[in-house]
Order: sequence, then structure tokens, then C-alpha cells
Amino acid sequence: MADLGFEVLGLDVDEDRIARLSGGDLPFYEPGLEPVLRRNLADGRLRFSTSFRDLADFGDVHFLCVGTPQRADGYAADLGHLDAAVAALAPLLRRPCLVVGKSTVPVGTAAHLARTLADLAPVGGDAVLAWNPEFLREGFAVHDTLHPDRIVAGLPAEQGAAGHAEKVLREVYAAALADGTPFVTADLPTAELVKTAANAFLATKISFINAMAEVCEASGADVTRLAEALALDDRIGGRFLGPGLGFGGGCLPKDIRAFMARADELGAPRALGFLREVDEINVRRRARTVEVARRALGGSFAGRAVAVLGAAFKPDSDDVRDSPALDVAAAIRAEGGTVTVHDPRAMANARRAQPSLRYAGSALEAARGADAVLLLTEWREFRELAPSDLAPVVAGRIVVDARNVLDPAAWRAAGWTYLALGRP
Ligand code: UDX
Repeated sequence: MADLGFEVLGLDVDEDRIARLSGGDLPFYEPGLEPVLRRNLADGRLRFSTSFRDLADFGDVHFLCVGTPQRADGYAADLGHLDAAVAALAPLLRRPCLVVGKSTVPVGTAAHLARTLADLAPVGGDAVLAWNPEFLREGFAVHDTLHPDRIVAGLPAEQGAAGHAEKVLREVYAAALADGTPFVTADLPTAELVKTAANAFLATKISFINAMAEVCEASGADVTRLAEALALDDRIGGRFLGPGLGFGGGCLPKDIRAFMARADELGAPRALGFLREVDEINVRRRARTVEVARRALGGSFAGRAVAVLGAAFKPDSDDVRDSPALDVAAAIRAEGGTVTVHDPRAMANARRAQPSLRYAGSALEAARGADAVLLLTEWREFRELAPSDLAPVVAGRIVVDARNVLDPAAWRAAGWTYLALGRP
């Protein structure tokens, strides 16, 4: 927003995070974001604060971007951070403003927050709530923010408020709209649902191809060739049809669970029953990867050394939330294997999440003395590894390519046992 020319004040309740951001230091890895942060700090358009009072006095538009993680006691989303943010901001709103929800929430949340706002804001009906779901992908956050494929605006039911909210959002997104980005207006619940439905669909697509991988494993077929052929039907398309270790991260897994929980609450549990299968297929890929590696090592990990390449839930991110790679690494460790992990960016987060694993400063160091090498997150530097890079350091030439990114023929020709998911 600052880069687009707006004056921006960012708030977080974490003082350390605000201090780092104010100093131009990103508290997470996101390609291309740090230069944008620094440029706009230097230009004075972007500032950070921990004061809700400053924020309330400053903003014409307030974006709510707080996380909605899975609750510790079940599938539902934990709305505690979002409720707290609105409860802290609303009583300070003394000037007309638009409050825009970006967090991924169970359908019905916006209506509830609109009531809170109306009850608490001194400015009353001049504090309007809209819902504008966020579709950016980690690793592509800057691009996806500046060039979104659509902008969805959930507007209040009351016509005057809706017209005002739409006008303001069109000003906020003027640059993207000028590029021809579709602008879809909807009521609040529909806008909330666009996000959850999109993530449910993406998760379903991944689990669909991973279910096909299970059938391929049972029948001797090759899921990568199957996916390639399916993708050529443009009704199906190839994106999110990549078979392998499956999805993780801070969004897809918890969003499909929260969606199921919400459907239960709404009395429509059967509507999303299939998402339970989607979740289970996804989690089974992790167990399957462990099984493939265990079998290759003769049936047990006890006393064996395993190199794990990748800890982040996907490449170009340092996010290890619900990471399939770390899950597999921890499972092998629990079965008595010595596991050494390398990830180009996620080492610090991985260490915090799984302190009992070993960590190495490079792929080669992780592979040194390993009886098997597992490629679990498809970072470019791992995809580009040649068999001859690893051969001199490993104890055994076994590679498990859980993301289907290596060339099986090249590895086999170099004397390796190449194993993958869904392929003979
Ligand atoms: C996702 C949505 O894509 C994004 O629109 C939403 O705003 C947030 O959630 P993100 O969590 O950054 O974004 O990751 P994404 O690129 O969607 O990948 C999710 C997971 O699916 C990763 O673990 C990835 O490895 C896996 N994946 C993706 C596959 O296993 N196969 C594929 O074909 C694609």
C-alpha cells in the first residue's frame, strides 16, 4: 500500500516485531519484500506502531490482517486475535472510516464483527465494515499483492454504507483496477466464503492427484505422466495438480478444517464431508513417504542416518507451520533414525519446532554419511542437485524424491536407487 503511494501505519501487539519492522528488518522470509519495506520506510510513507490510539486517529481505512489459526481443542478457527483487534480498535474510532477484514474467517464472522463495531465505535454508523479476502501465496506475496487475479469486496447490506465501502475500496485498489483486475462485489458472507471455498478447492485438487498416486502405487502406473496428460484438458488444468508429499502451511490445512467445523455449526455437515477425505489423503502421503524410505532401508530406521532436504512447507518460504517435510523428518527420528535436515531459509524456525533433529549448513553436509537422502521440499537448489554432487558424501545411494522433481533416469543411471510417490 505504501509503495502504491498511500500513507501507511502498521500495528502489531508484538513490540519486538514492530521494532524490527521499524528498523527495516523483516521478521520472516519473503522474496522481494524487504526492499519494498526499506524503500517505503526511507520515503516516510510507511511507519509502525504498537498504539491503537495512534492507529485509530490516523486511518481512513483499517485493514484487519491478523491470523486465524486452528484452535488447540479442535478443528474450528481461533478468532481470538481478530476479536481482540476489533475490541481494541473500535472504542477508539472517533472519525469516519472503513474497516476492512482480510483475515480468513468462518462465514458469519463479518456480520458479528460489524455488530461489535456498531456497538463500540464512538463514531457509530460512520465506521463501516467490509470484507476483502486475501489470496496471496507465500513466496509470491509481493507479486500477488500488486497484481492480484481478482479483488473481492464483501459489502454491508445497508445501501449507503455499501456504496461508500465500494467507492473507498476502488480508490485503494485503483492501480490494480487500472490494469484490468476483475472487481467482484458480494454480500459479507459470500465474500468470506470465496476465500474458504478457494482454498478448499485447491486442497481438493492436490488430494485428488495424490489419491490417484495411491492408485498408481497399487497398479504400477506413473502419476506424474497421468497428471501431465490430465493437465492438457483445459477444463482440468495443471496447476495444483502436482502429486507428491501434499500440502501444508498456515492456510490450506487449517482452512479446510475450519470450513468443516463451520459447516457442522451451520447444520450442513454433509456438504463438506469430502474435505475429511481430502485431509486424510493429504496426511497419508506423509506416512507413505516414511514407509517408502523405511522399506528402502530394509524395514527399519534404527541406527540408520537419513538426510532430509527441506523443512519449509514449500520453497521460497521459511514457514514450517504444518510442514509435511518436518513431519516426515520427526516421524523417522521417532522410529530411531538419525535425521539431519537442511533448508535454505527455514533452519531457525525448524530448530524451534523440532529441536531434537540435527541440522546441517548445506545439502551436502546433511547428506554426509547418510544411508538415504529424502527430498521433501522442492527448493531450486535441491531440484538442481546432480547424482554426482551427493555420491561422494553419502553412505548409501538411495534417494526418495517426495516432490517428483528429480530425473529418475539420471539418478538410476548413476547407480542410485531412485524412489518416488505414485511412480513405479
Ligand atoms: C495458499 C493459497 O494458494 C493462497 O491463495 C492463500 O491465500 C493462502 O493459502 P500458500 O499457503 O502460500 O497459499 O501455499 P500454496 O502455494 O497454495 O501451497 C500450499 C501447499 O500445497 C504447499 O505445501 C505445496 O507444497 C502444496 N502443493 C501445491 C502441492 O502439494 N501440489 C501442488 O500441485 C501445489
